[in-house]
Amino acid sequence: MSEQGVPVITIDGPGGSGKGTLAGMLAARLGWHLLDSGALYRLLALAAHNHGADLTNEEMLTGLAAHLDVQFIAAEGDQEQRTVLEGEDVSRAIRTETIGAGASRVAALPAVRQALLARQQAFREMPGLVADGRDMGTVVFPDAQLKIFLTASPEIRAERRYRQLLEKGETASLAGLLDEINARDERDMNRSIAPLRPAEDAILIDSSHMSIENVLETVQAEARKRNLLG
Ligand code: DC
Repeated sequence: MSEQGVPVITIDGPGGSGKGTLAGMLAARLGWHLLDSGALYRLLALAAHNHGADLTNEEMLTGLAAHLDVQFIAAEGDQEQRTVLEGEDVSRAIRTETIGAGASRVAALPAVRQALLARQQAFREMPGLVADGRDMGTVVFPDAQLKIFLTASPEIRAERRYRQLLEKGETASLAGLLDEINARDERDMNRSIAPLRPAEDAILIDSSHMSIENVLETVQAEARKRNLLG
């Protein structure tokens, strides 16, 4: 077990790999806490927008990151986790493509990442934590008991996103989504700080041709091997 005695499973990978869904299902199944670290970067991008902060102003963004007034309200029944920023439910507002692109930009700033580090680590509470992000296994929880790196081809990820948007009644262009995914991957993988990459001891899963149930079973089997299933 870790120094703090609280087990952690990290799930890293690019957007659209299914890691958010996987992390949510796994946390629900284990009865563990859930950290959606991407939501913190998205919240910061939204806060910057609301406060008129320029996305290149590292000092102002770092100040905002340090004082983000955020609450995550745990999922109940078939409801999803809700995210509240400065008293307002922004669960939907943080999911737009514009905010996602903004999140990827603020996430490239070292001082911003540093300002959000302790806040992420504070999610580590009994009986355990499932942490979803880009650098959960490499930087935030390097001593996690199980590290998963989930990928899928850019084309499959664009298709999944396309279907999600259509289901929500929004319009989208598949080619446009693929371009955005490639641009975001490029930025997330090539930034100098905490780039998107698997931890050395991570288990790689390519979800391109797997159902989410299959992925969940694979991860649960790994968790079982490590005696994490209680
Ligand atoms: O997983 P997501 O799409 O909600 O993440 C939004 C952006 O935040 C993503 O482009 C990269 C950044 N991010 C990060 O740099 N580190 C994390 N641990 C999580 C997200």
